[in-house]
Amino acid sequence: MAVTLGFDIYGTLIDTHGLVPVLRDLVGDRAEAFSKAWRDKQLEYSFRRGLMEEYADFGVCTRQALQFTRASFGTELDEEQLQDLIGRYKRLPAFADVRDGLTKLREYGFRLYAFSNGTEAAVASLLDTAKIHDLFVDIVSVDDVASFKPDPAVYNHFLSRTGAAGTEAWLISSNPFDVIGAVSAGMRAAWLQRSPDAVFDPWGIEPSITVDNLYDLGERILQYQGSD
Ligand code: 2OP
Repeated sequence: MAVTLGFDIYGTLIDTHGLVPVLRDLVGDRAEAFSKAWRDKQLEYSFRRGLMEEYADFGVCTRQALQFTRASFGTELDEEQLQDLIGRYKRLPAFADVRDGLTKLREYGFRLYAFSNGTEAAVASLLDTAKIHDLFVDIVSVDDVASFKPDPAVYNHFLSRTGAAGTEAWLISSNPFDVIGAVSAGMRAAWLQRSPDAVFDPWGIEPSITVDNLYDLGERILQYQGSD
């Protein structure tokens, strides 16, 4: 079977800080800090909900994290502005290398899946906005198992949905916690280091490969599979 690639969505293909220009109109020069706090809290809520077995979908984590961030920054955003931000979050932009990079990977013969904390509907909206939906075989969402990355159950779900063996199934993610989760569950994983400042967690569990763009990925995966 062709090698299967599961692409993390938020932060890997889609820029979670794509609303900074909009936030600048709302919170001025605190826009970057606000965006980062919102994203960090969204992930914290997903981790906590996973641990507590109190699942509510990723859209709920996103909205509640925005409410928290609004309060902690002491900003005056009203309900309408909050709803507007949530609406825009469903249409966040893709990174510049995404369309061409994924097209190249398809030409190599890889099977491409979107594999995300987001619900299938939320991920479909992002892929449609970025005009990349047609490049994927399917969307695999953690929503199916009512838990979040890095619960081993979600990586096992990815393997069973795609029918791929762990040695031929790759997670591609910019999120170190996701890479560590996939490797721990027996998958291969590429860390897409989207920024030179990004630091990988020093847990002693390393990515199978590290790349800084999608264009080099196909060659590097084939080399790894060949030497494996
Ligand atoms: C995703 O699953 C982890 O937020 C990241 O798309």
